[in-house]
Amino acid sequence: SIDQKVDSVMQLMTLEEKIGQLNQYNGFWDVTGPAPKEGQAAKKYEDLKNGLVGSMLNVKGVKDVYALQKIAVEQTRLGIPLLFGFDVVHGYKTISPIPLAEAASWDLEAIKKSAAIAAEESAAVGINWTFAPMVDISRDARWGRSMEGAGEDPYLGSLIAIARIEGFQGDLSSNKSILACAKHFAGYGFAESGRDYNTVFVSDEILHNVILPPFKASVAAGVKTFMNSFNDLNGIPATGSAFLQRDLLKEDWKFDGFVVSDWGSINEMIPHGYAKDSKQAAEIAINAGSDMDMESYAYVAHLRTLVEEGKVAVAHIDDAARRILRTKFELGLFENPYKYCDEAYEKATVGKPDFHEGVLDMAKKSIVLLKNESHLLPLKKSGQKIALIGALANDKTSPLGSWRIAADDNTAVSVLEGMQKYPNNELLYAKGADVAVGRTQFMWETKINMTDTSGFAEAIETAKKADVVVMVLGEHGLQSGEGRSRADLGLPGVQQQLLEAVAEVNPNIVLVLTNGRPLAIPWAAENIPAIVEAWHLGTQSGNAIAQVLYGDYNPSGKLPMTFPRNIGQVPIYYNHKNTGRPVMNEPESVFWSHYIDEKNTPLYAFGHGLSYSKFEYTDLKLSSTTFSKNGSIQVSVTLKNNSNVPGKEVVQLYIRDLVGSYIRPVKELKGFELVSLAANETKTITFTIDESTLAFYTANNRWEAEEGEFTVFVGGSSDQNLTSNFQYTNN
Ligand code: IFM
Repeated sequence: SIDQKVDSVMQLMTLEEKIGQLNQYNGFWDVTGPAPKEGQAAKKYEDLKNGLVGSMLNVKGVKDVYALQKIAVEQTRLGIPLLFGFDVVHGYKTISPIPLAEAASWDLEAIKKSAAIAAEESAAVGINWTFAPMVDISRDARWGRSMEGAGEDPYLGSLIAIARIEGFQGDLSSNKSILACAKHFAGYGFAESGRDYNTVFVSDEILHNVILPPFKASVAAGVKTFMNSFNDLNGIPATGSAFLQRDLLKEDWKFDGFVVSDWGSINEMIPHGYAKDSKQAAEIAINAGSDMDMESYAYVAHLRTLVEEGKVAVAHIDDAARRILRTKFELGLFENPYKYCDEAYEKATVGKPDFHEGVLDMAKKSIVLLKNESHLLPLKKSGQKIALIGALANDKTSPLGSWRIAADDNTAVSVLEGMQKYPNNELLYAKGADVAVGRTQFMWETKINMTDTSGFAEAIETAKKADVVVMVLGEHGLQSGEGRSRADLGLPGVQQQLLEAVAEVNPNIVLVLTNGRPLAIPWAAENIPAIVEAWHLGTQSGNAIAQVLYGDYNPSGKLPMTFPRNIGQVPIYYNHKNTGRPVMNEPESVFWSHYIDEKNTPLYAFGHGLSYSKFEYTDLKLSSTTFSKNGSIQVSVTLKNNSNVPGKEVVQLYIRDLVGSYIRPVKELKGFELVSLAANETKTITFTIDESTLAFYTANNRWEAEEGEFTVFVGGSSDQNLTSNFQYTNN
């Protein structure tokens, strides 16, 4: 068995070699060049040769991976192969939509396939481990990393986590699959004020009912690794939390893979004020169950001394080393350390046409039609003058989004290029205004306050000549992502002014939004007739957008995260508590939970998304109005496509537990089905509700269903539902 194999290696290892397995280095040096002689690179190189490195990150390409693997296998005493980790977040070179966009598809098969494409392409360049999926739930669009997750809902987030893990890990014995990593454990998406890396303070109830479910689902799906997180959770840095890593993850959930720290997060416990120096940080982290040290240099420097001083038990080091060795066996690296190292295969695989087909399909499925008044969309295919306005319309880098570190700039299809494929209309382009400039390393400068309006006049003249104006506005791809929190959720720079100026001369505007998070665009929602949410859709972005605008693809995406009217509403999410003073229809009173200057409702609700078809819900039926433990009820609804356009609809099932030992949300997603309907077709959709549907983390500190009355809601959005009630009894 694998355990016996791990034992046989462990028996041969010195304490240093075991500690070496727990050490991960970033690989920024010319690995195929002459051996580095000085500085950090020389130290890493020496450690590598001495068997003191278990994994590298950011080494890519078969040549480089092979060179380092060869050192590990041929020059170290035991020849233990390395793991090569990389942030394959939404594709390697062929880029799929950002994860938040993919989540908007609610299409688990498509999401799984997209992850499998990313795995196959990155495996071909030597990578055997991705630091994805990020399964952090986020209710705060100010947080830039919202783009990297599945949005605000724990149920949808859990299913997407499973789909992505299955897609990445597939069959680990093949050379097309790689290790996945559920991150960031835990609470990172709840950073106070939406500011990245900020403190996280949440109740037990929110932790267990909202934050943890996707992580727990990841373990059940067989994810091989976890990453802990930069933030503190209720006063204890996650990296140093034994509650999270030992008690919950390894004890309760029986996770048998390993936990990697986030970049430098062991040493970050010093500025956190939790460790006085790197040595104490190493002690806290290993004792808390953080198995591998990413770039803190703390384990390799201090663990041996800590063992000698009796501060760290050898058993902890053995356990961590065993976990890491086990994944290496599971990947088959001991049998063939070069299994991912074939240059001819690499050449034939990277950028394969079927990868492009796959990411195009995913991109189309990720688009959400937010508004479509007076049938401005789809556009007519001939005889029209179309003005295309906005710097992001002619940008071949922005659509790649954030976290696409291996993809080259200028490799995405722009909206302009996509629309040029419809030659029977006249297409006029004007930039209008820049959104971002400059470039530092692999990041665009996050310069967001562009003020230049000199391009407005040309944009206005162009709009005047057109039948329809398509404006592509929003965030540049690198204006969201890690470290890109925003204190304003409007259109960056002068884009709002540009939109209003163009609308004055031509109101027939289709606004195409490209962004990595929900935006607050109340003026556009009120005044612009058609709005398409196109996120950052990856390499095939422009083709996907053009096909949707021209009706060659009927959009079916639904928002995985609430769009606020106003930044003051954030955090805003559909599954909120009711409060003791919910807003009623009593406008003369102020003593309700509300704002005196803004509505409570979102601009666009979680689950919202339109189609070129017209869907109608009727006949919500329950098979019974009561059921008990071990029983179930069926909830059915009739869905009609009352149009001549075939389409797909995400039918959503929500419940409300009216009284609970912990207050329950006003609505919780508990099921959904992506249904295809031909023109004028009608289908009956049925969901089953049983005890597991109703279970939650109760005041008994247990996952269980409580008896009582429930409301069930079915519809095409969290704010559009038919409802009915039922009773559940626990006997
Ligand atoms: O995987 C990432 C993580 O999400 C943020 N810090 C750096 C890691 C490695 O690149």
